[in-house]
Formats: sequence, structure tokens, C-alpha cells
Amino acid sequence: MTSRYDETYARSLRDPEGFWAEAAEAIDWEKRWDRVFDGSRQPFNRWFPGARVNTCHNALDRHVAAGRGAQTALIYDSPVTGTVRSFSYAELQDLAARFAGALRSRGVRAGDRVVLYMPMIPEAVIAMLACARIGAVHSVVFGGFAANELATRIDDARPKIIVCGSCGIEVNRVIPYKPLLDEAIERASHKPDACIVVQRPEQEAPLVAGRDETWADVMAGADAVDCVPVAATDPLYILYTSGTTGDPKGIVRDNGGHLVVLNWSMHAVYNRTPGEVWWAASDIGWVVGHSYIVYAPLVYGCPSILFEGKPVGTPDAGAYWRLIAEHGVSAMFTAPTAFRAIKREDPDAARLADYDISCFDTLFLAGERTDPDTLAWAERHLERPVYDHWWQTESGWPMGANCAGLGALPVKPGSPTKPVPGYRIEVVDEAGEQVPRGEIGAIVVKQPLPPGFTPTLWNNDARFEEVYFTRYPGYYVTGDAGVLDEDGYLWIMSRTDDIINVAGHRLSTGAMEEVLAAHQDVAECAVVGVADALKGQLPLGFVVLKAGVNRPPDEIVAELVRMVRESIGPVAAFKQAAVVDRLPKTRSGKILRSTMAKIADGETVKTPATIDDPAILGEIADAIRPLGYGNGAPAGD
Ligand code: COA
Ligand code: AMP
Repeated sequence: MTSRYDETYARSLRDPEGFWAEAAEAIDWEKRWDRVFDGSRQPFNRWFPGARVNTCHNALDRHVAAGRGAQTALIYDSPVTGTVRSFSYAELQDLAARFAGALRSRGVRAGDRVVLYMPMIPEAVIAMLACARIGAVHSVVFGGFAANELATRIDDARPKIIVCGSCGIEVNRVIPYKPLLDEAIERASHKPDACIVVQRPEQEAPLVAGRDETWADVMAGADAVDCVPVAATDPLYILYTSGTTGDPKGIVRDNGGHLVVLNWSMHAVYNRTPGEVWWAASDIGWVVGHSYIVYAPLVYGCPSILFEGKPVGTPDAGAYWRLIAEHGVSAMFTAPTAFRAIKREDPDAARLADYDISCFDTLFLAGERTDPDTLAWAERHLERPVYDHWWQTESGWPMGANCAGLGALPVKPGSPTKPVPGYRIEVVDEAGEQVPRGEIGAIVVKQPLPPGFTPTLWNNDARFEEVYFTRYPGYYVTGDAGVLDEDGYLWIMSRTDDIINVAGHRLSTGAMEEVLAAHQDVAECAVVGVADALKGQLPLGFVVLKAGVNRPPDEIVAELVRMVRESIGPVAAFKQAAVVDRLPKTRSGKILRSTMAKIADGETVKTPATIDDPAILGEIADAIRPLGYGNGAPAGD
């Protein structure tokens, strides 16, 4: 098939309003838009102003109304509890409508926030849809975050109600969630009116009288309510993501533009046909889960899998193949780290022989760079196309991809292929000038950003403008550095800030440094991301102790590890730190973090011209060698 990518991409940039208005025809609107796009108040874009729409209606009710109520909408597969359960559109509609009724009878109105702190269970999806149904704004907090992170989000979102699971299950460990919620509420200055707890049989949670109710109780007395149309520009959800400080950024998603692009992406990017089973193996706590476990497949009409398990260990490295075969999955989306985990445990993919995966046609990978080895391994064993693609919480849907539905382009291993229609992507130098093709620079997107892209940060227009638009006026700064090559392919090389990517999870080293700096014995610290064969990157800490501290360094490091786990959460995967006498700095006092990361990665390091004292690099190399880093990588030119 000849690819329609070039003409589609060109048209999306030439006539964005016409392009997206056409895509918007696939959505059920209560009232159509007055204008397709309003960019009069830059950098804040508004797509489809004047339109009224309901996301839950488009995800559920319209399928039921069209006679597809009995078709499968969601398949919950949980090897950790031994459960497989399907929900039809009609069942999901009924559950979402009743939970929406429960929220409303507890005072939740359009625009009110509801925080969800939940494992990968159907109630999480139902609660999201129920919020959408009544125009409430959900904010899902990933279960691997600690009470402190949850408290920060509660204070920023100020939810009326919090919905939580009593526990999560990590392979074979039960992780109680409710005590973390109780602690978070204790720490937060904002207090919710009520908490609704899904009591899981693996570990039920004690309830706080007068505040907590069980999911079962609230559902028993709930009346189903209809969808409430909201403005297309009203928020559907807030999803917090790591910024460069300890304060997470509340990414806002609107209703109208989001519906349009997610629906469009299901065919143009992912090449799906309604009815085909789709699986995004992520977590509802991340943007991938919001977009491609919940909203996109439901709106588009593809049965979606909700998997409560891991690529390995639940029970083995054949878990993904089992799900594909058992549920007839046509395409899946996961992070490369999941495939590296499978490859490590089953290098020849021997377990694939146990399953018939003839239903499967394409693997999509994102969340971190797909390294060519993992790409080749997956292609060789699956004998199917494997496509890397690149996006962020801010975008909500792919920014760089091999648009399979427009006719796939040749794959260049290591590149997520080309900019997705709607995104005018440029690579610029320090001065904001485009660099020649093939040269590295900051990846930016020229306004107008397409529909679906975050219109602002929750309650913080100023931070939105400052973080993303002041560096290069008229351009959104992605935070990634990379290359556009002579064929127009994108190469994502690194971050331009202190964000690291651990197992596809976006984490701020700045936030970890704030935790380390709070330790009584620490005078100075730095956290850098170092290469890891499984997770892509891992955080590594460096601490300088206060004068006069003479406790054993191991003891202090163990305390630091515990502090990061308790303050940010296990997801930070902060397990190692080195105690050093001093940190390498420029003469102006800036810590040379990237130089330290290079030493740890075993790269030959050119001594920075601005360094205060070059001898420190040798000290750093010596300090991390016992931790298994930087072997054979002495510093200096
Ligand atoms: N609730 C509570 N704790 C959680 C959690 C959750 N929802 N998710 C992760 N954690 C914990 C883990 O148990 C682990 O804790 P530990 O330090 O006590 O072992 C820690 O957070 C780190 O988790 P994770 O990064 O998932 O590492 P892992 O070693 O458990 O698993 C992989 C590694 C590669 C198998 C796993 O990261 C994975 O499946 N990734 C691919 C899919 C994906 O989630 N992608 C996200 C973006 S698309
Ligand atoms: P998140 O907002 O958590 O989705 O993280 C987004 C960041 O992950 C991006 O800005 C990139 O740094 C990184 N990322 C996501 N997908 C890719 C990819 N395909 N290739 C390289 N980096 C990626």
C-alpha cells in the first residue's frame, strides 16, 4: 500500500481547522462548535469552543443506542487474583451511570474533582467514566506513589471525593493502599468530604467512620443518572506528571479535542477497525492508561483489555502471549522495558510456542526509546511489524509515530518515525534557529498544537506559559532533545531537563534531590539517571555529608533509600547512592550532573572546560565503582 502519510501530514498543517473538523464528524456532539479553533489568547488553545459534548456518552451510551450494547467493551484479566471478566457496553454503561448517581448524591457536580487512587481493577475504569458522565474532573494517582505524593495532588486538585482500592497486588505481594490514603489525607491541608473504598477480598481496609463508605454500599443504593453535556473545552481530567521540581504538574485534558484525536488515532496511527480487540499494557495511573486503556478504545469501539499483572512473574514470561491468544488481541501497546523483561527471562521466546497468536498483527511500543536490540528481538519472534512511537503526558496522544493506518513507512530502528499529522515539529538550537537536518537540538512544536494537547496546567496558567512557551515564543518545548534526519525521521536522544525515564515511568531527579537534601546528615546532593539494561534508566544518588558526621555511610544510604521510597514511592526505584567528599561543579557552582551520569555509564568523559577542579571526576568514578558503575571509565581527557 502506498502511504498516505505525506499528503495527510501536509494537509493537517496547511488547514488544521478543516482537518480536525472533518475528524470531529465521528463524534456525537450535543451541540456543534461555534468555531473549530480559538487561538486568540496565546499560548492557550481552545479547540471546538461553543460545542457541548459528553465523553462517557461517546464511550458507552452511543454504542448501546446503536445496538452494540451486548458487545464486549472491557476485558479484565487479572492473573494476580485468578480473575477474567468481560463487561459489555450495556453493563459498563449501567455501572458507570449508577456510580455517577452515587457521586452526584454525595454532592459531586460538574467541574468538581474526584481523586482516584486505585489498582488495575474495573472499578477504576467505571469511576473514571462515571466522573466523565456528570462532568466531574477525575485525577488518577498511580498506585506506586507514596502518601506524600498523593497528598500533594490532593492539595492541588482539592477533590470533593476520593475513590480508592483497599489494596493493590504486585505479583504476589499485597500492597495496602488505604493506609497510604489515610496518611495522605492526614498530611494534606485539603480534606475530601468522603472516601469510597473498593474492598478487595485480598485485604479489606478499616473504614473511618463518618467519612468512608464501601463501593458495594454506595452502589447498592445508587440511582443511574444520564450523561451531562459539558463544554468541549471543559476539563475531563487532571493527570499529574513530573516536572523539574518536586511539585508535579497538573496536566489538564479537555473533553472535545480529546475525543476527536483519540478516535482519529485509533485508525490513523494504530490501524484498528472497531470490534478488534486492543490491549494497552500500561496502568490507568499513566497517560497511556487514560488514553489507550480507557478512552480511545471505548470511544472507537474496540474491546479493551485491563491487565492486572506484569510481563514476567504473573506467572511467567508467557503472560503476554497467553492474553493475546486467549482474548484474540489484534494489536497491543506497551513499553519496551516490558519486552526487555520478557527477553531476559525467555531469551528465545520459547513460551510463544504454547500459544496461537495468529489473531495478532502489530506491536506498538512507547514510553521510552525502543532500543534496536529489543525491536529486532520482538520482530524476529512475533514475525509482525513492531512500531516505536513517541509522546508525552502533555500531548495525550502520539506526537511521532509510524502511522500504520495511513500506510506504514519503512522502519528505521531507534527512530519513532515521523511527526504525526497535527504536529509541526522542529529541532532548534540555543538561539531558537532550526538546526540543519541530522543535527541535534531541542525538539519543539510550533503552535497551534493539535486538539487533545493539554490546554493548560491545573490552576496554573502562569506555570504553563513559563515552563513550555517562554524559552522559544510560539513554540512548545517538549523537554526532549533529538534529531530530524534528511528523510524527516525523528530521533529522540535525551531530555533537556532533569527528568529520567525508569521502566517507562517519568520521574524527576530534582524531586529525589529534595528528599535527600532533607536528611539531617546531608550537606549537598545530586541524583542522576544511569543506564540500566532492564529499566532503561535508574536513579543514582551522590551525597556529601555535613562536616563532623561520622556515621557509617551504608547506614545513611539505607536511610536515604527508605526516605525516597516513603516520600515519592517504590516507583522511583531509588536503591543506590554514593557518599562522596565533594560534587563536581562548574566555576560558577553548577553541579555537573550529566558528566557524573556519563562516568557512571562507563563513557569516556571529556573534562568540562568550566570545571572547578578536574580531580573530582576521578573521585566520583572511584566512589561508584563498588556499586557496579563506571567500570573502566576513568574521567579526564
Ligand atoms: N502499586 C504499588 N506499587 C507498585 C505499583 C502499583 N501500581 N507499580 C509498581 N509498584 C512498585 C513495584 O512493586 C516495585 O516495588 P519494589 O521496589 O518493592 O520491587 C516498584 O514499584 C517499581 O516498579 P516497576 O518499575 O514496575 O518495576 P518492577 O521491577 O516491579 O517491574 C517491569 C519491571 C519492567 C516488569 C514493569 O515496570 C513493567 O511491566 N513495565 C512495562 C509496562 C508499563 O507499566 N509501562 C508504563 C508506561 S507505558
Ligand atoms: P510521559 O509524559 O510519562 O509519557 O513521558 C514522556 C517522555 O518519555 C518523553 O518526553 C520522552 O522523554 C520519553 N519517551 C516517550 N516515548 C518515547 C519514545 N518512543 N522514544 C524516546 N523517548 C520516549
